[in-house]
Amino acid sequence: MKNFFVTTPIYYVNDVPHIGHAYTTILADVLARFHRASGEEVFFLTGVDEHGQKVLQAAQKRGVPPQQHCDELAPRFSNLWEKLEIRYDDFIRTTEARHTKVVQHVLQKVYDAGDIYVDEYEGWYSVAEERFITETEMTSGVFRDVKQIKERNYFFKMSKYQDRLIEYIQSHPEFIQPEHRANEILGFLKQPLGDLCISRPKARMSWGIDLPFDKEYVTYVWFDALINYISVPGYASDEQKFLRLWPADLHLIGKDILTTHSVYWTTMLFSLGLPLPRTIFAHGWWLTGDTKMSKSLGNVINPMDFIEKYGVDAVRYFLMREMVLGADANFTPDAFIKRYNSDLANDFGNLLNRVSGLLGKNHDGAVPEPGARTAAEEEIITVGRGLSAKVHELIGRLRVHEAIDETINLVRIVNKYLELQAPWKLAKTDMPSACRVLYVAAEALRLCSALLKPVMPSKTKAVLEILGAADSGLSWGELKSGTTLQPHGALFPRIEVEKK
Ligand code: MSP
Repeated sequence: MKNFFVTTPIYYVNDVPHIGHAYTTILADVLARFHRASGEEVFFLTGVDEHGQKVLQAAQKRGVPPQQHCDELAPRFSNLWEKLEIRYDDFIRTTEARHTKVVQHVLQKVYDAGDIYVDEYEGWYSVAEERFITETEMTSGVFRDVKQIKERNYFFKMSKYQDRLIEYIQSHPEFIQPEHRANEILGFLKQPLGDLCISRPKARMSWGIDLPFDKEYVTYVWFDALINYISVPGYASDEQKFLRLWPADLHLIGKDILTTHSVYWTTMLFSLGLPLPRTIFAHGWWLTGDTKMSKSLGNVINPMDFIEKYGVDAVRYFLMREMVLGADANFTPDAFIKRYNSDLANDFGNLLNRVSGLLGKNHDGAVPEPGARTAAEEEIITVGRGLSAKVHELIGRLRVHEAIDETINLVRIVNKYLELQAPWKLAKTDMPSACRVLYVAAEALRLCSALLKPVMPSKTKAVLEILGAADSGLSWGELKSGTTLQPHGALFPRIEVEKK
């Protein structure tokens, strides 16, 4: 059976999750659900990054030991994922023994292979970025909290793999996506690649995994975190599982961590002799106004506020429909309300109301017989028949917003068709025609709900239950005539905006 192994970044537990974290995780969930619906065996991995300076500082700020801090913060992520209906297959915390053991194994292996050496190093260190930066980076002025540090440290021979990495990126166009991100990395690789400092003396920062070959040091947080992608699927612990799952099909990340994934991680995998993930996809940022949403800027949107007000499915829908994968997008309450009212209240919710209202009024509340088709139905059926393949093709190319738009577009077409056909009038003069029109409208509603299931699991489940089609599939014509519709309230009540 075909496998689909998708990952999200593992998030720092230095603070509670915000919309940015929720976005990547929902995206992975939506893709996982689409792939499951196509009958693939899916493995969806997420988790939290618990080591390193950022987490240590957050714990110190709260005045609690770091492990206790992590134990308290990690559930904030898993609980939010539960509320957001994220169905992951595994959730890794990097302080778990199943992970730390593998990190030490990897360190030892890379060390034994001669790819780690010790050196005295003097250079600029960015506390905020938690890494040594080059002279050029220093003068760019982009880095905050910079100081000069002189230290004995361990280095990973990243430079050794530079040519191989360039060649790999050039010969695998699907590897780094979108394409302009691959070009960005190739541009970065035009400069000589330095080696990576992978240790922190415990005297300075002790919250990490011990280097197996020098107990005075812990490993750098990225050399620890990235390994989650192989520690969970069983590297060095469960060979069968690992063979089945690795390489991952898709590492979903934000563009902020592109270099760590496409340069650090890939060279680590080269050193281990492991195949590289099929695709690293860097999405853009959610902005508020023109600035990135981030804790330090104090402009974060708390997903819970929107979930409580408008429901989980509306939030999932907005995030998936609004962001063109790869580009930045703006999260503002106005944009949310606009999208909700137009797509969910006016288009999708309205179609359900019309269909169930008219069936209730003129057809004893049951799905009618389709009867003989006219050209108008043929047109809709042609769109309906091709829709599932189209949506899955778009999802395969990570065009999530387009896949959703194609589906909502059929809803719009059918709403227009209803206005033109006016089955409420037909019911008075030509009952078979009224039946024909309402069967097509109800079937289109069913199909669109089935196709939107990965995006809005609860609301679409409700619609399918109303239509008596809970277990129906993705091809046109599965709605059964004679089924009695279930009573329901408004699916997506319109949000009334107060006029200023
Ligand atoms: N712990 C590292 C990742 C290690 S992966 C092996 C880390 N954690 S983080 O908590 O800072 O999360 C970064 C990720 O959160 C981004 O790559 C992205 O997936 C998501 N986002 C955080 N802020 C975001 C926005 N404003 N917009 C979109 N996504 C953002 O980096």
